[in-house]
Amino acid sequence: MARVGFIGWRGMVGSVLMQRMREEHDFSGRFEPVFFSTSQAGQKGPDLGFETGVLKDAYDTKVLASCDILVSCQGGDYTKEVYPRLRSEGWKGYWIDAASTLRMEQDAVIVLDPVNRHVIDEALSRGIKNYIGGNCTVSLMLMAIGGLFREDLVEWLSSMTYQAASGAGARHMRELLAQMKELGDAAHDLLEDPASSILEIDRRVTEVMRSAEFPVREFGVPLAGSLIPWIDRPVEEGQTREEWKGFAETNKILGRQGNPVPVDGICVRIGAMRSHSQALTIKLKKRISLKDAEEIIASSSEWTKLVPNDREVTMKELTPAAVSGTLTVTVGRVRFMKMGPEFLTAFTVGDQLLWGAAEPVRRALLIVLD
Ligand code: HSE
Repeated sequence: MARVGFIGWRGMVGSVLMQRMREEHDFSGRFEPVFFSTSQAGQKGPDLGFETGVLKDAYDTKVLASCDILVSCQGGDYTKEVYPRLRSEGWKGYWIDAASTLRMEQDAVIVLDPVNRHVIDEALSRGIKNYIGGNCTVSLMLMAIGGLFREDLVEWLSSMTYQAASGAGARHMRELLAQMKELGDAAHDLLEDPASSILEIDRRVTEVMRSAEFPVREFGVPLAGSLIPWIDRPVEEGQTREEWKGFAETNKILGRQGNPVPVDGICVRIGAMRSHSQALTIKLKKRISLKDAEEIIASSSEWTKLVPNDREVTMKELTPAAVSGTLTVTVGRVRFMKMGPEFLTAFTVGDQLLWGAAEPVRRALLIVLD
């Protein structure tokens, strides 16, 4: 039976992975799970409803190498440190990772099987051993409109994002809520009084938001009541790394690096908790009817849900509030734009921790085990 080692199962993405694996009964005897820890080796394993043994040292490459498959949600620094050592010591197992470190390597595939199962299968048959989860915005965009790429209809794509706090990390989610509380508290007494001035409320809230005491340790600036039009570090030609990934990863996932589709846009952090949203402008290669566009989009994956371009249903279903915690990726506001009949627009929302992070990794493990 294959031995599968899990590293980083306690963090936010790792916890979502464990939760999904339990929900889907993945731990039902198909493989022998081994749990590692970077800080608590020797202590009890996770409580997953079965005997998980004692935690192994996540830096001990001998024990790691006893596994046929390693699944890491520990983060990029861990991958950078441990992965090259394991390979240089001759380990030939499968490395499945949520971190971005190895994504663009020649001998790695970015996994998003509802969209690129053919790329994964071809890589497996070539003996490729590294299967890496993609950037959340890229994966969620492809879960939403992958059908248009499958039909080779996309000439170029621009994605303007509205990214949730979870993409930055668990501490950032807490800070967003702390900021929201501070703002609510600042206006509390005025809100109680329906006759109070809205401009006075706004003045107080803005003052608190700009004060030196406002909690901004993680984000560096206010996010609640504001937004941050910059995600990750600068890379090239004014792009941020998050924006750079749109082009690089989309084309790698689709296996079309030799004939890439231009993808670009501006990535923005907003005060949502764990669902990323994106406004897409899609230049199609040819004119198609709106009905065909909707049908192709809806066929992108079994989890893609087309929301009619109607006010009531859009407000109910095409939001982080409706989508968070579910595997459904909603796409709506689909229509042709004033720029011309080949310019299609759409808005999409997906859970950043599920299809944006843990789910492609969980499914890659099942595919590799098969
Ligand atoms: N980089 C993404 C974000 C999350 O900051 O929202 C990980 O893919």
